[in-house]
Amino acid sequence: MNKICGLDIGTSKIVAIVGAVGEAGELRVEGIGESESIGIRKGVVINVDKTVDSIERALKDAELMSGVQIERVYTSIAGGHIKGINQRGVVACGTGREISEKDVERVIEQAKAISIPADREVIHIIPREFVVDGQDGIRDPVGMTGIRLEAEVHIVTGAVTSAQNIIRSVNKAGLHVEDIVLEPLASALAVLTEDEKEMGCVLVDIGGGTTDIAIFIDGNLWHTDVVLVGGENITKDITVGLHAPIASAEKVKIKSGAALLDLVEPDEMVEVPTVGSRSAEMVPRRNLVSIINARLDELFVILGNEIKKTGLGPLISGGVVLTGGVSSTPGIDRLAEQVLQMPARIGKPSGLKGIADMVDSPRYSTAVGLLHYAKETGHLGSGVKLLDGAMFRDVTRRMRDWFREFIRS
Ligand SMILES: Nc1ncnc2c1ncn2[C@@H]1O[C@H](COP(=O)(O)OP(=O)(O)OP(=O)(O)O)[C@@H](O)[C@H]1O
Ligand SMILES: [Mg+2]
Repeated sequence: MNKICGLDIGTSKIVAIVGAVGEAGELRVEGIGESESIGIRKGVVINVDKTVDSIERALKDAELMSGVQIERVYTSIAGGHIKGINQRGVVACGTGREISEKDVERVIEQAKAISIPADREVIHIIPREFVVDGQDGIRDPVGMTGIRLEAEVHIVTGAVTSAQNIIRSVNKAGLHVEDIVLEPLASALAVLTEDEKEMGCVLVDIGGGTTDIAIFIDGNLWHTDVVLVGGENITKDITVGLHAPIASAEKVKIKSGAALLDLVEPDEMVEVPTVGSRSAEMVPRRNLVSIINARLDELFVILGNEIKKTGLGPLISGGVVLTGGVSSTPGIDRLAEQVLQMPARIGKPSGLKGIADMVDSPRYSTAVGLLHYAKETGHLGSGVKLLDGAMFRDVTRRMRDWFREFIRS
């Protein structure tokens, strides 16, 4: 049985999950290791050595639990440097012959023939739809007869330096990077249902440093975005609002936080250790929840504006799926519904075998999604090594894999 490892390098934590694909195609979770992430800010490596330490700690625990030695990983990428753009390619296919896989490759190649600055690298090229002789909405044009083939693709690019620093950190921890996957895309693979993707939905991964967005329309990825606000901002707001040190602000947020004031009884009090005094202070829970509510409300307003800008709002009938650590805040789904005016639910990994209960939280969506990605793109045991200097693996192959995956769904 092939073992695979997903390594999610987040702003608050680094998680390594070891999995295997069973004979019936099921994904089994066999080990997990987690460490506090120290060298990462807003999804980007700012200190390689500290990141290496964190990776090694997470790895050791995942290896101990699963009993395997990890050599290769699928790792995540995120941050403000990520940009998603939509492009169109057009090719002629001759007359009266069937469109082949080669034609599809050609049209995608043409769509990505835009000038990408030297300091940016392509991370994903995902076909959204094909158009054959003016007929749109085609998933798989191979085998159709046509003269003119067009492709709409979503291209995700990232800063070369940010990607290199991830690869360098993983390599220094003694591992090869099998592939790099955009975080919200990995999370989407772990938590979204096929129906949601078909109906049109927004995946919102609210982590420690960033909120990552992926919009799916007609089953395919149409738009990606990053907002540089996450749980850390809520914690900082609490330190200011309640005069509490960071560590106790974080604790009180997780223990007593909520997104909506109607979840608080009028006389409820919470204990908050304060700066410069040993004794904890009792404050109304209402004050704590108001701070959290204000920040999350603002975040959802920003998200609403981003969705509006894409013009895709009317096509999103599957609603919003919230995931990432912050989505565990009680009442957050209701707040999202109020602000965004669409149905919202909390998404966490599901349908797994093995020690599935250990990853049963929205915090693990990205890491579990990396296992799904590995399984679905079929890179298992492909022997590809990605060493320092060799930035990304063959993009054409990555693109082909995505194409296969998306026409299958
Ligand atoms: N039960 C909870 N209630 C509220 N907030 C929570 C809870 N559990 C975790 N969080 C918050 O979630 C954030 C971490 O989320 P997550 O683990 O998804 O981040 P990450 O993947 O490390 O970061 P990023 O994806 O931004 O790089 C922290 O700010 C933490 O305080
Ligand atoms: Mg994350």
